[in-house]
Amino acid sequence: MILILGGAGFIGSNFVLDFIKQSSEKVLILDKLTYAGNLNNLRPHLDSRCKFIKGDISDSNLIINLLNKYHPRIVINFAAESHVDRSIHGPTDFIETNIVGTFSLLESIRKYYDGLPSSSKCNFKIIHISTDEVYGSLNAGELPFKETNAYKPNSPYAASKASSDHLVRAWHQTYGLPMITTNCSNNYGPFQFPEKLIPLIILNAIKDKPLPIYGDGSQIRDWLFVSDHCSAIRAIMENGRIGEVYNIGGNNEITNLDVVKKICSILDTLIPSNNGHKYEEQIIFVKDRLGHDHHYAIDSSKVMSEFSWSPSETFESGIFKTVNWYLNNSNWLDSVISGSYHTWIEKNYKL
Ligand code: NAD
Ligand code: TYD
Repeated sequence: MILILGGAGFIGSNFVLDFIKQSSEKVLILDKLTYAGNLNNLRPHLDSRCKFIKGDISDSNLIINLLNKYHPRIVINFAAESHVDRSIHGPTDFIETNIVGTFSLLESIRKYYDGLPSSSKCNFKIIHISTDEVYGSLNAGELPFKETNAYKPNSPYAASKASSDHLVRAWHQTYGLPMITTNCSNNYGPFQFPEKLIPLIILNAIKDKPLPIYGDGSQIRDWLFVSDHCSAIRAIMENGRIGEVYNIGGNNEITNLDVVKKICSILDTLIPSNNGHKYEEQIIFVKDRLGHDHHYAIDSSKVMSEFSWSPSETFESGIFKTVNWYLNNSNWLDSVISGSYHTWIEKNYKL
């Protein structure tokens, strides 16, 4: 069986749903259910084969007990605080979960792993899910991030993820833990909490609210449809080499302004307004994010050549599916927009 940590979040729940469709293996999911975790993503699929446990990666008794009870062949850690703007307003949770939590998790796994017979040790591995933001921002003319690039994190979020990557590397080098790290570019798709650019823009557009662009909107991200990230992780979990780092990207470098305009034009087609109003007219330019990274881009050649992996979705096809999904799942959107969500919007945007 496999153990998925942070499996009720955006990428984790997409991974679980993809995995159970393609395999009959048992899945155990652990998640703290922070504001970003949503058990409704998984609830219809929970049964004796796919179980959920509410818990914290920092709870070493719980983690060690689960490892001893279930003996998973693979642990995948998606659990993290993941939103850059929240890390700027309040970095504490990012230090607690992404750094101290990862440290605690590695120590729990080490205690378990040290007690395993060698025959079981070689059938066990841990996949640490990380981000391209650890590499900082590309300057004009610089090539996309390779696995060998120096770490230059700029936001508290990126620094906390960079720290966790360093811990993972050290626990592999020093204690021999069978770790693999993945660094992925910006994901989008179903079940993403509407604090991130793409779902926030879709939500605001259909609610007739302003579409906030930080600064001039010229920042570039490399967008990857979430199921393509999941397929890369599946390839890596089966055939990835222990101790390696794999960069995963979509080869879709697009400015924020173009992303927002694309969403608007899809909405113009799918749900045109009666009065001839275009969704683009809702765009407003707001104060820029502090320390805003200008440009991320990933060189995925290692993962592509080792696993013959490539993304199945172009940005055109993926963003169309995404807008459609949010339009068809307004109940999901309404259920995640709780009271605390409104407080966040007021704090970050002061619109
Ligand atoms: P998310 O914020 O949607 O989900 C994170 C999940 O972790 C939530 O379900 C939350 O409840 C859970 N969690 C938080 N703290 C926990 C703790 N202490 N113990 C147990 N569970 C905890 O994040 P996401 O977008 O799904 O990202 C998953 C991972 O992928 C993160 O490590 C993130 O850094 C990385 N990543 C994300 C992106 C992206 O674009 N979203 C891109 C590259 C890498
Ligand atoms: P986000 O989805 O938060 O991902 P990340 O910061 O991890 O890349 O933001 C994507 C880009 O969109 C980033 O450059 C910030 C920008 N952005 C806006 O312009 N307006 C917004 O309201 C948000 C949330 C993000």
